[in-house]
Amino acid sequence: MLFAQRRGTAWRALSLVAAIVAGLFLSPISQDQAEAAPGPSFTNPVVGAPNSADPTLVQYNGNYYYVATTWSSDVVMRRSATIAGLRSAPEQLVLRTGGDTMWAPHLEMVGNRWYLYYSVEMSGAPRRTHVAESAGSDPMGPYTYRGVVNLMPNNGWAIDASLLKLNGALYMTFSAFSPVDNLQSLYIAPMASPVQASAFGTRISAPTLAWERQDGAVNEGTFALQRNGRTFLTYSGSHCNGPNYKVGMLEYRGGDPLAQGSWSKFANPIFQRNDAAGVYGPGHHSFFTSPDGTETWIAYHANSSASQGCGTSRTTRVQKISWNADGTPNLGVPVSTSTVIAGPSGETGSTPRVKIRNQHSDLCLDDYNFGAAPGAEVRQWTCNNLPVQDWYLTAVGDGYYRIANGHSGLCLDNKDFGTAPGSVVQQWTCNDLAVQQWRLTTTNGRTTLVNRHSGLCLDNYNFGTAPGSEVRQWTCNGLAVQQWNVA
Ligand code: AHR
Repeated sequence: MLFAQRRGTAWRALSLVAAIVAGLFLSPISQDQAEAAPGPSFTNPVVGAPNSADPTLVQYNGNYYYVATTWSSDVVMRRSATIAGLRSAPEQLVLRTGGDTMWAPHLEMVGNRWYLYYSVEMSGAPRRTHVAESAGSDPMGPYTYRGVVNLMPNNGWAIDASLLKLNGALYMTFSAFSPVDNLQSLYIAPMASPVQASAFGTRISAPTLAWERQDGAVNEGTFALQRNGRTFLTYSGSHCNGPNYKVGMLEYRGGDPLAQGSWSKFANPIFQRNDAAGVYGPGHHSFFTSPDGTETWIAYHANSSASQGCGTSRTTRVQKISWNADGTPNLGVPVSTSTVIAGPSGETGSTPRVKIRNQHSDLCLDDYNFGAAPGAEVRQWTCNNLPVQDWYLTAVGDGYYRIANGHSGLCLDNKDFGTAPGSVVQQWTCNDLAVQQWRLTTTNGRTTLVNRHSGLCLDNYNFGTAPGSEVRQWTCNGLAVQQWNVA
């Protein structure tokens, strides 16, 4: 009998939440009904380095789809039913661009197709914006490359493209250097289709305010936010190589969207560094809605030190936004990485969070020494309420599960594809290979965990009883050292 047999406290609680959420989804949610339950709580970052800057996070049909800068030739995508599950969701290759250092992919649906916009350099030519189109309505693809979006004269440099749907027309907003003053500014171009601009871009914002010129004068990373008939164009100002990178906002005031006079700039930034929380250079964001559509959230990157810059230290964080009485968005302040956040409302995916306690030692499976890098150790330790002992179970098919750590976001892994008794267990970047797939079988509340590659059981090695006792794989023998309480 598989893992589903267990009905521990966590499962009962989870089943109750799932029943509540399912019940809400069975009937239309009216304004006066209770909102759906929040999803599993999490702490930021929701996606760790290195492919974690300039995030686009989309919620579609109850799943989240995540893309970010990879610095390689590839666009990779993560999918998760919960925000909490993003960190351990495997990166799946969706496009080989053929270029270098892929930056800032933007994922958006037009009609019933998904479009991926990104910038790369092709054999040393200026960095330009390219586009790929999905074959159907699945954001995971497959994708077909559809070419360069010709946004600036003379095949000019253009990055950070995103779409704006306004007055029944389609536009692309992006960042480029002005031929007039060479300021990296915000531009907008009319689109004949999702893959073709019908004219070069015109400038609608230059980094002229003091807060846009710290560490370098920059306007980039646009993302449109529309509500109650108003159109806000949010963007990042100042240079990403410092802690003063931040989010600003334009509002469309009517008239020709291609004219700078149709846009007004808010005098002050709407989201910026929070030194007290240890968050620096927050920006290059996107917005997404909760699965039940009642909440708006922001995904952004930030550094944890004022000395970090535009490299791979920038990790992805998410938090809920609100709205001011005057109808403008209130992004609040970036929260610390120790802040526990309830997941977006209406998440129906269940990524059960459990402790895994050994029957012989009565110790818990533990991300030893708060490891965060691939290869981090797994040991047993006195049970506590820390994320290092939280394990997220995601079914990967055939009765097997991915088991990801709540602190490291890494997966329980049969090191070096071991097959012999005594093979080591570690944490490694989640890849859903057989070495990271575990069959959980529960009998009378006792669960064994069998590795799909080795066929061996997760084992309290040498009958340890002290905190720090090792965990290995061993020939399954039914002893208490291989029986775990998973709840
Ligand atoms: O992170 C790579 C690039 O750096 C992004 O495209 C841009 O927003 C930032 O300047």
